[in-house]
Amino acid sequence: MTEPQRATFHTIGWAGDQVELLDQIALPEQILYRRYETPAEVAQAIRDMVIRGAPAIGIAGAMGMALAVLGDERRTTGQLIAMLDDAGELLAQSRPTAVNLFWAIERMRNVAHSARDQSPEEFRRLIKAESQAILDEDVAANREMGRHGSALLPNPVTVLTHCNAGALATGGYGTALGVVRAAVEAGQAVKVFACETRPYLQGARLTTWELAQDGIATTLITDNMAGFVMAQGLIDAVIVGTDRVIANGDVANKIGTYSLAVLARENGVPFYVAAPRSTIDLRLQHGEDIAIEERTSAELCEFRGVRTAPEGQGAYHPAFDVTPHRYVTAFITECGVVRPPYRDTLRALFS
Ligand code: MRU
Repeated sequence: MTEPQRATFHTIGWAGDQVELLDQIALPEQILYRRYETPAEVAQAIRDMVIRGAPAIGIAGAMGMALAVLGDERRTTGQLIAMLDDAGELLAQSRPTAVNLFWAIERMRNVAHSARDQSPEEFRRLIKAESQAILDEDVAANREMGRHGSALLPNPVTVLTHCNAGALATGGYGTALGVVRAAVEAGQAVKVFACETRPYLQGARLTTWELAQDGIATTLITDNMAGFVMAQGLIDAVIVGTDRVIANGDVANKIGTYSLAVLARENGVPFYVAAPRSTIDLRLQHGEDIAIEERTSAELCEFRGVRTAPEGQGAYHPAFDVTPHRYVTAFITECGVVRPPYRDTLRALFS
């Protein structure tokens, strides 16, 4: 038997003074790295889903801002701060739902403004280092989530996941898939079911691919099979990532997550949300307040240039949904497992 070819990959990183992204549109057919030199190019890459997944979008936002200040030697620190602020505004327009983007932009701005007395050279160094720190801290948080989350799982365990909340969606290791990786590393017998995640197929194209790189096999199902699979007793836990958790514990995540949460409740399956603190937005109070990205109907009516609906067909394409907090069994964070009442327990993570 021949082993499937495996790749070691990184999702995002610095290549000199350019930002390097693994092109997630090209996966799984091609492992293609692209390099970016301006904030506008990075904003476009986020919009086009070359990079996607909440923590990865945040890291890309931070590195995209840093690109604004690298290079031009003639600027004063004051001018560099203005350029960085402008880049932040531009990047903030790229995608609306993942709060990590806005969190990272704010963090970069704060660092920039507190470095206003530094020389331009030192300022550039600090800004680039801060974007790298955001990436490094994300990976460390994912490993902690993995440790806390894997302790929740029985052994053997079969996990159902949705979209891609893995290394491809983060600085590395993953949130929901970080829990899977940690369980495997701890010697647990782990099986993974992956929902294909229509219409963008993050589950079919990305989750299956990235877990295969670690030798973790997945069983792929279409999204509408999840209820039947749970009713058959095949799933011990649902674990998903999130784009934004708000003060009451309501969860924005990839469209289809809400249906999975309701099905999990109906079938007595625990529903866990892996969420680093950078994804928790205590400023919003109600699920309806979360900005849900609506993407082009073309992504529903065709796939990679092949029409899947008649010419001129109308469609509605919300890219995320909101799962009410009552369906969430627990949040898995880098600080530990968080249970209801979420208004208190989520807030306590920041005190
Ligand atoms: O549209 P995407 O692919 O950016 O959506 C990604 C998700 O919904 C993920 O589940 C979420 O960002 C968490 S990633 C750790």
